Amino acid sequence: MKSFLTLAALAASALAQSVNIGSPADMSTVTPGNNITVQVNRPNTLTGSQEVAIAIGLFPCGGTDGQTPCAATNTTGVLGNVLYTGPYNPQYADGAPSLPPHQNFSVQVPSTFKSGQVSLGVAHFALVGASMMPIYEFVNTTLVVQ
Ligand SMILES: *[C@@H]1O[C@H](CO)[C@@H](O)[C@H](O)[C@H]1NC(C)=O
Ligand SMILES: *[C@@H]1O[C@H](CO)[C@@H](O)[C@H](O)[C@H]1NC(C)=O
Ligand SMILES: *[C@@H]1O[C@H](CO)[C@@H](O)[C@H](O)[C@H]1NC(C)=O
Ligand SMILES: *[C@@H]1O[C@H](CO)[C@@H](O)[C@H](O)[C@H]1NC(C)=O
Repeated sequence: MKSFLTLAALAASALAQSVNIGSPADMSTVTPGNNITVQVNRPNTLTGSQEVAIAIGLFPCGGTDGQTPCAATNTTGVLGNVLYTGPYNPQYADGAPSLPPHQNFSVQVPSTFKSGQVSLGVAHFALVGASMMPIYEFVNTTLVVQ
């Protein structure tokens, strides 16, 4: 029973550590060759956690003709073109107290991308709770290349 409760608490704390993509908004328009700011939020919780790393990627859903919508593909766990790998250090922003702890990453949309939908994927690895349990998660959103 005790270990069950501990597991449940760990699962709850793992969920509470989830990141989300604060920007760009779903279906935002982006331009090949231009940089976009990817804001990765990690809402604050009472559970301690130690950030390890994230990776950010863009995957063109449309294939060669750019016509296939992302909804037609399973993009879970698909980073595609990796644009950032490295440390993740979410912080409150001075002057933007309403934002959760986050970090902004400026990444370049590959100039070779054709018009069509692309999936923006973020993979997140952290250690949570007193036991420093490793968690991995993946979040994604859809952007439109024009
Ligand atoms: C999509 O892919 C992920 C990772 O490979 C897998 O866990 C998930 O079950 C897949 N979802 C569907 C609806 O096929
Ligand atoms: C991150 O970008 C948002 C706007 O996209 C801005 O409001 C916020 O202050 C930035 N955060 C930091 C830490 O610079
Ligand atoms: C654009 O993104 C790349 C990474 O994709 C980065 O190295 C570069 O510093 C960014 N440029 C600006 C002006 O932020
Ligand atoms: C992204 O993740 C959501 C779940 O949060 C899912 O419904 C959606 O189909 C995924 N794919 C894209 C390309 O947005």
